[in-house]
Amino acid sequence: MDSIVVTGNGPLHGQIPIAGAKNACLTLMPATLLSEEPLTLTNAPRLSDIRTMTSLLQSLGAEVQSLQDGQVLAMSSHDIHNHTADYDIVRKMRASILVLGPMLARDGHAVVSLPGGCAIGARPVDLHLRALEAMGAELDLRDGYVHAKAPSGGLRGGVVEFPLVSVGATENALMAATLARGTTILKRAAREPEIVDLADCLRKMGAQIEGDGTDTITVQGVDRLGGATHRVVTDRIELGTYMLAPAICGGEVELLGGRIDLVGAFCEKLDAVGISVAETENGLTVARKNGQIRAVDVTTEPFPGFPTDLQAQMMALLCTAEGTSVLEEKIFENRFMHAPELMRMGARIDVHGGHATVTGVDRLRGAPVMATDLRASVSLILAGLAAEGETVVNRVYHLDRGYEHVVRKLSGVGAKIERIKGQ
Ligand code: EPZ
Repeated sequence: MDSIVVTGNGPLHGQIPIAGAKNACLTLMPATLLSEEPLTLTNAPRLSDIRTMTSLLQSLGAEVQSLQDGQVLAMSSHDIHNHTADYDIVRKMRASILVLGPMLARDGHAVVSLPGGCAIGARPVDLHLRALEAMGAELDLRDGYVHAKAPSGGLRGGVVEFPLVSVGATENALMAATLARGTTILKRAAREPEIVDLADCLRKMGAQIEGDGTDTITVQGVDRLGGATHRVVTDRIELGTYMLAPAICGGEVELLGGRIDLVGAFCEKLDAVGISVAETENGLTVARKNGQIRAVDVTTEPFPGFPTDLQAQMMALLCTAEGTSVLEEKIFENRFMHAPELMRMGARIDVHGGHATVTGVDRLRGAPVMATDLRASVSLILAGLAAEGETVVNRVYHLDRGYEHVVRKLSGVGAKIERIKGQ
């Protein structure tokens, strides 16, 4: 297994390009199953999760061509000959569940493995299933798989009232609703930019959708969808992650393609800790206001609140802040696994249930640490950028799921970082 070696090397200066959003691409790709016409995605990120979704779609019979070094995905689902998403693919990537709604809507049947839990939580899919049942789907759970069937006339429009906000369940329901007969209303829908991006793409394919970006989405089903070409929205989590690089070790960095509307709540917290964010014609420029980072409390919430996917990275910054910060993780039940690793670097963190209390220290010290999940891994790299000495982050395969060219992007702004091939 590869590892990444980071050595604290002072302030950073330069530009970092931000890629297309992993979490948008992972729902845009299954949308190809809704139509027999070609769907082409541009600005696609080059990530292992995208390659996993590619393999899954190909196993179902879809054609997926990766062009221009992976930045363009040319897809066609003219001949879907297999309607089963196998456990060995689904267990590697939970987003595989997002093929369920589209397959059910287009062909009336689908068999998808239950994804199982992951490091950050149990992550059930009951809300996905409940939404599809509200559209008439008959679901039978057996042998670890969901066996789904639509009524003989196909899915029908219905009212889906989510008991809690779920990004994935909103995406599955939204895709299914585009081909359901009649009107579907999604209440307490997720408002993430990735939902709006999906809706934009579906509208290009001929879907009739209103209200995306709010908590109520209304869909008028249509008989069929056509093809489209769609540019994947900027990755707000990669953006926020790299905004923290100059925050944690000083300097000034311009994030190319960054959009302030994608990171509103996050920027409010950066402002509170003493970081300035300025819009430029190419993106966003980030720098410390006057040197010292101040403590701040953070609570993760569904968009437009502070994103859970930036909690680990923000904790790394707060480990070196003046004062005590309390981070409350309200989305997932076990998303503080980066805390013990940061403590190996000298951080002072007390974790109690969904709360982590961070008391800032003058400087972290480099140490060997282990990545436990995607966002935790990059949190450790951020900490290593500011630490005294050398940090070795092990198990960086987690990183490859969500961040392309980390070493190139950070060394391009002056970080001392390299990737070591594992045995
Ligand atoms: C998406 O996961 C993202 N993944 C996650 O990003 C992100 O952390 C999460 O949304 C929240 O923003 C992708 O888009 C591929 P949820 P998702 O359904 O859809 C519970 C990353 O690092 N829940 O909004 O799985 C669930 O357990 C990843 O890029 C149910 O109880 O998240 C969680 O507590 C990590 N039943 C809460 O809802 C369900 O049927 C929010 O989950 C579904 C979810």
